[in-house]
Amino acid sequence: MPNTPDIKWLDSGEPYSEQFQDYYFSTDGGLAETEYVFLKQNGFPQRFIQSDGHQKTTSIKIGETGFGTGLNFLVTLYHWLHTPKPKKPVHYIAVEKYPFSKVQLSRIYTLFSEQWPQLNKPCRVLLNVWPDSLRLQSVFEYSFFEQHFKLTLLSGDAQQELSNLLPEHKQSFDAWYLDGFAPARNPDMWQLSLFNSLYQLSKPGTTLSTFTAAGFVRRGLINAGFTINKVPGLGKKREIISGIYKGL
Ligand SMILES: C[S@@+](CC[C@H](N)C(=O)[O-])C[C@H]1O[C@@H](n2cnc3c(N)ncnc32)[C@H](O)[C@@H]1O
Repeated sequence: MPNTPDIKWLDSGEPYSEQFQDYYFSTDGGLAETEYVFLKQNGFPQRFIQSDGHQKTTSIKIGETGFGTGLNFLVTLYHWLHTPKPKKPVHYIAVEKYPFSKVQLSRIYTLFSEQWPQLNKPCRVLLNVWPDSLRLQSVFEYSFFEQHFKLTLLSGDAQQELSNLLPEHKQSFDAWYLDGFAPARNPDMWQLSLFNSLYQLSKPGTTLSTFTAAGFVRRGLINAGFTINKVPGLGKKREIISGIYKGL
């Protein structure tokens, strides 16, 4: 069965989750917030640059919990496209339990392209290949731009899907975008077992960021081995979290 989200469309045209009673992204500057919370805190787009010292091309692996509308993916792709060559290939691996249908996504991307014309190209390339429906536990994979920017979308529960990535992807991720809904409304996204999988999939230097600054999320990530900083948020949001795994 397709597992599409239960959406209410706001007067602004933006989607709101009826199921979780929460917003997918800030209704007050969603693009700027994604750039600040997820790209800047993880050191992108600078980390896309292939530094001269490297003999062989290393790639960047980004993990996201909660793909939603794909806004974080689109903004990451936009900045990667605008990074001068030589740049590192990217593998973006995201998990989503309730993937948008193509019709829903098309409606959202019309809005994104109007609000943020710079996202027009990323929206078009993703929508072109988005499957008509995504079933639970299915994997959607596509490589864009001559195989240099790959998306793997795992349709399922974040905890389950991340633990399934072990052992193949052990200690291989470079950055994490933790983007569930607010923990009080989406508790199954913010479990100790998930933090533990994040740790096993990370290596020294792996970074993370998240919109929530909830104490138990911070403590859970610290217990899992990450060094965590509170960072001022944007606009009305007082604090967000960034972190790094420094190794044992
Ligand atoms: C704040 S929204 C994500 C926003 C998204 N990054 C974007 O750019 O639109 C949180 C997402 O987490 C998903 N989600 C909630 N619980 C989940 C779970 N247990 N496993 C995987 N995804 C989940 C929701 O369906 C929703 O799409």
